[in-house]
Amino acid sequence: MKDVIVCDVGSHSIKLGFAGDHVPSLVVPCFYGKSDRGAKETVYFGAEALEESGVNRIELKLVFDAAGTVKEWRRFEELFTWALRKLVGDDENAGVFSSLKLFLPRPANMNNDELQKLSELLFEKLKFRAVTMQPEAALILMVQGHQTTGLIVEAGAGSIRLLPVYHGHAIVAANRRIPIGGRVMTRHLVKLLGDQGYPLNAKRDFDLIVSDPTKQSFCYAAPSYAEEKRCSMETSLLLEQTQLLDGTEVDLEKERFETVECMFNPSLLGIEAKGIGHAIVELVATSIPLDCVKDIVSRIILSGGLSRIPGLLERLQAEVRTQFRDEKQWNPRFREEKNWTPLQVENISVELANEEFSLFHGASIVGDAIGMKREFWVTQNDYKRDGVPGLLKKCRL
Ligand SMILES: Nc1ncnc2c1ncn2[C@@H]1O[C@H](COP(=O)(O)OP(=O)(O)OP(=O)(O)O)[C@@H](O)[C@H]1O
Ligand SMILES: [Mg+2]
Repeated sequence: MKDVIVCDVGSHSIKLGFAGDHVPSLVVPCFYGKSDRGAKETVYFGAEALEESGVNRIELKLVFDAAGTVKEWRRFEELFTWALRKLVGDDENAGVFSSLKLFLPRPANMNNDELQKLSELLFEKLKFRAVTMQPEAALILMVQGHQTTGLIVEAGAGSIRLLPVYHGHAIVAANRRIPIGGRVMTRHLVKLLGDQGYPLNAKRDFDLIVSDPTKQSFCYAAPSYAEEKRCSMETSLLLEQTQLLDGTEVDLEKERFETVECMFNPSLLGIEAKGIGHAIVELVATSIPLDCVKDIVSRIILSGGLSRIPGLLERLQAEVRTQFRDEKQWNPRFREEKNWTPLQVENISVELANEEFSLFHGASIVGDAIGMKREFWVTQNDYKRDGVPGLLKKCRL
């Protein structure tokens, strides 16, 4: 068996496989089903949780909240351990991981306390032989055709991350996090449907879980919000009738684009944050060294699950170009720079990441390349000696 496991811990799903694999061999959704019969509690994961929810009406619960934070650590541990055991085909056999190494992109939405608990799980309970964690940006860029410069927009379930990289070096001080991820959007869809009288409640995990695939199949980014609204009021062109995963029949119309619009305008949800286009322009204007700006904006790479939303790429490119058009008027840095030649808007380019699982694939390539190189790994002995601070330091997190 190969000895380096690669695992992208997302708040919507955990993607697992072995170093050298192109795509994950296992994608585990981050929810569980729980049944309480008398004193005995049974917990189900993956497809089994969904099946049981139909058959035995067990309760479905999410492991992460809308911001991508773990709700109950015990459940995360159970889910993660279950997923790792499923990957290696092991049921209960203690010690199976002590001959394996684990390569993780740093889980984007976890804070240092959670990373500490994760490290304890990996070293003390599962007893991995060695572990390493690497930041997302360079791993994603790795699979974009040998490029080393660009602005990665990693749009996941818990948040959207803006991660500039210049000649292979992440400009960490310029990283940004927008608190509008796929989970917030699903919650918005459920609320819109609830407002229409459907028996759905955005506070109920079950309703969020069964509505998520509908969001994936029917929602899109409007080229122009105002135009799309007009179209939905005057025609029935946008109407789609479908069933949620639990069989609830719903009509979708303006919800199809309103669900996504909050990415561009978080105030629609009452959230005080810049929309994605605005945040990109502000980041470039304020935090990227001037001589790197043109190279960075010529390669804005949209990645993560939300990158697959129809129309998003085109809308984002149009927004960013429009806002940069008068760049000299609004950006004092550009105005003050005597030799600054304006950006050509046609050189501002947003492109789709090459692959659906770019982060996993990048991690898999690097995991394979460093498999035998001792200096990249934190071993059990390193961990016993230096603890979690040593791990964070060695991985430069
Ligand atoms: N075609 C699609 N249209 C709309 N949304 C989609 C589509 N495909 C996936 N998604 C959404 O993308 C999100 C999952 O993306 P991803 O797998 O990148 O998240 P994650 O890695 O689990 O989360 P994070 O990295 O933020 O912790 C979910 O909200 C899912 O509904
Ligand atoms: Mg992710």
